[in-house]
Amino acid sequence: MITLKDVHKSFDDLKVLNGISFTMKKGEIISVIGSSGSGKSTLLRVINGLESASRGHMKIDDDTFDLSTMHEKDKRRIRKRVSMVFQNYNLFKHKTALENVIEGLIVDGMKKDKAIELGISLLDKVGLVDRKNHYPSQLSGGQQQRVGIARALALKPQVILFDEPTSALDPELVQEVLSVIRKLVDESVTILIVTHEMTFAKEISDRIVFMSEGVIEVDTHPQALYQSNNNKLRAFLGKADK
Ligand SMILES: Nc1ncnc2c1ncn2[C@@H]1O[C@H](COP(=O)(O)OP(=O)(O)OP(=O)(O)O)[C@@H](O)[C@H]1O
Ligand SMILES: [Mg+2]
Repeated sequence: MITLKDVHKSFDDLKVLNGISFTMKKGEIISVIGSSGSGKSTLLRVINGLESASRGHMKIDDDTFDLSTMHEKDKRRIRKRVSMVFQNYNLFKHKTALENVIEGLIVDGMKKDKAIELGISLLDKVGLVDRKNHYPSQLSGGQQQRVGIARALALKPQVILFDEPTSALDPELVQEVLSVIRKLVDESVTILIVTHEMTFAKEISDRIVFMSEGVIEVDTHPQALYQSNNNKLRAFLGKADK
């Protein structure tokens, strides 16, 4: 349902993505792993239209986008179908939890009372209805991230991208966010997640993609990960938790 074809991205002389191609099917859960600087966040940002590529194409269902020439109209079309959850939550600080969740719906033209109804049901889903009128500064990191997930769900995207959703959290708050993501997995939401939580990645993923220097080195089932002969992956896993 989403296909990337030969995606390249450079920042000046630095080549960050060096020909990324892969396909995600509906309902698939794919984890992206790799060392710092390997291009994981850049890949997600390109998929979500936050960053243009130097070259490459993306196909979503029957629509093909040239990622090197993205117009605002294309970005809007992509963001209706692909939403993103950020490492640092990226909530509006002067908006309440509920206002953060419904912002996109209102911009999209939904009537306010309908948006509020939907927003409350999404906050309920992430276990935060009782915090709906709290501002981000009045919420823990785990709660802010759960608001971020509710916001990402609001526009009923076909795919949700998560960029290290738990890495800014204190260890005791990680599980509450992972359990919300697990719930989405059970509901067959299509997910692409960058994570260092290897145990979690192995548990939820249909596929694990290992990136190194802007290239997909390995794309495999979680069970096959530790049997891989790829030296870069073996070196990476030697450092990551098992
Ligand atoms: N806006 C930018 N301008 C210039 N260089 C950038 C920019 N964004 C990223 N880079 C560079 O691109 C490379 C890949 O960055 P990216 O954030 O995609 O890595 P990552 O795999 O997500 O790393 P991490 O695990 O640390 O989050 C890095 O060398 C980074 O410094
Ligand atoms: Mg990153």
